[in-house]
Amino acid sequence: MALLDREPTDSRALTQQRFERMTLAGGDGLPAVDLAGLPAGPTWPAAVQTVALLRFRHWFHPYLHQKYGDIYTVRLMPKGRPLIFFTKPEHAKEIFAGDPGIFHAGKGNAILGPVMGEHSLLLQDGDAHKRARKLLMPAFNGQALRTYQDMVTAIARDEVAHWPEGQQFRSHDRMNVLTLEVILRVVFGVTDENRLAALRPRVSATVNVSPAVLLVWGIPALHRVGPWAKALRNQIELDELMYAEIRERRTASDLAERTDVLSRLIREGVETGDELQDIELRDQLVTLLLAGHETTATALAWALYELGRHPELMRRTQEAADAGATDGDAWLDAVLKESMRLHPVIPMVVRTLMKPQTIAGIDIPRGATVGPSILIAHRREDNYANPERFDPERFLGHNPPTNTWIPFGGGVRRCIGAGFVMMEGVAVLREVFRAVDVTTVGTDEPQVRNITSVPKRGARIKVTLR
Ligand code: HEM
Repeated sequence: MALLDREPTDSRALTQQRFERMTLAGGDGLPAVDLAGLPAGPTWPAAVQTVALLRFRHWFHPYLHQKYGDIYTVRLMPKGRPLIFFTKPEHAKEIFAGDPGIFHAGKGNAILGPVMGEHSLLLQDGDAHKRARKLLMPAFNGQALRTYQDMVTAIARDEVAHWPEGQQFRSHDRMNVLTLEVILRVVFGVTDENRLAALRPRVSATVNVSPAVLLVWGIPALHRVGPWAKALRNQIELDELMYAEIRERRTASDLAERTDVLSRLIREGVETGDELQDIELRDQLVTLLLAGHETTATALAWALYELGRHPELMRRTQEAADAGATDGDAWLDAVLKESMRLHPVIPMVVRTLMKPQTIAGIDIPRGATVGPSILIAHRREDNYANPERFDPERFLGHNPPTNTWIPFGGGVRRCIGAGFVMMEGVAVLREVFRAVDVTTVGTDEPQVRNITSVPKRGARIKVTLR
């Protein structure tokens, strides 16, 4: 309890301190990198390449792959540092299996610092990451996932029951509402309607903070104006709610029986003698809320979009939904996997090298960043025949060859929520297709929204009751 005793209790001060500490303004302390000998890539100014990668990645990656081959280098702001992309499974394997003490993932996520906080699993590296991962893992293992399933099914059933029949709507919006509800209840275990009503808009506003706002957070004069002031105010309010929930939960009489992630983390800390402070719990919970909400909604919206365009596959999905968990889930699981292959929610994962390394036989210096391009890996003809085709059969009853399907990244940093996504996704698809016929309205294409790739027109659908 010694750590807990030292912690300040003013949540507003904690939020402000975090926003001041966690800016990119100070740089990452790594040296400038010599580009000689690195794989080829565009010679455009770093600012142009940064914008191309952040805003136009669905065009940029295929362009780079076609022009420069299986491995290509882009140079990014600040300092024109190289980011080297690999597209073949054997090279993804080298990166995912790399020593976590050398292949740092936290640095690539530093922009999320003001919101997620320095203790966030996404931002940590080395021993701190290992410790946090060990504490969080039990809340996401198979046994824990089974305890969340009934709640997910109930929320999905209720959501679908409210869909307007015969009118088009943006399935992405509805999936966002659904997955927010699921994550708030699973992560926090909040069931009090007033609390949920206060949390919902503040979590959504946090997800919507633009990287452009976070990128220049290091300029204090901005904190009192426009989107910066708004973001800070929202964070202060969200943190107040979260700290209140955390403090109440520590002394809740039913703590021992509760199955939500927050309660599990508090218990886990007590049992292992490695208790997380309130500030650490806040950072991990915000991370889970943000990482697990819109990502899952996007994967589901793409699945509805694809099924609604392929009536024969939709019928098969309805049969699987009717068949129930034992007989039908393999197909629903394959549908979700194929949707994430064709429409990866996250386009790439990256690791920054703390020491020189050789990858794919290329010597790469300290300070360079490397990563598999998920976008290209999922569309390589040698990984998937007819890669543009939506075909869940690819995944039916068998796993794809290692490192060809990598929507959740890999190695010690692989998405901690991957099992949760598959459980939630299958349960939601089952409820949707038990209840309705889905028809896609118009076409859609991926658009960059902050870090994820979402359907530009919201994956519009129409439904009719079965
Ligand atoms: C379709 C939905 C999702 C996708 C596509 C996705 C994808 C990813 C990817 C690509 C990474 C980085 C992996 C790497 O660097 O190798 C990641 C990390 C992470 N994800 Fe997810 N994710 C999803 C849903 C979730 C959910 C539901 C949660 C939690 C409730 C979650 C929590 C996290 C966390 C905490 C990390 C950091 C892991 C670490 O650094 O050790 N994600 N996710």
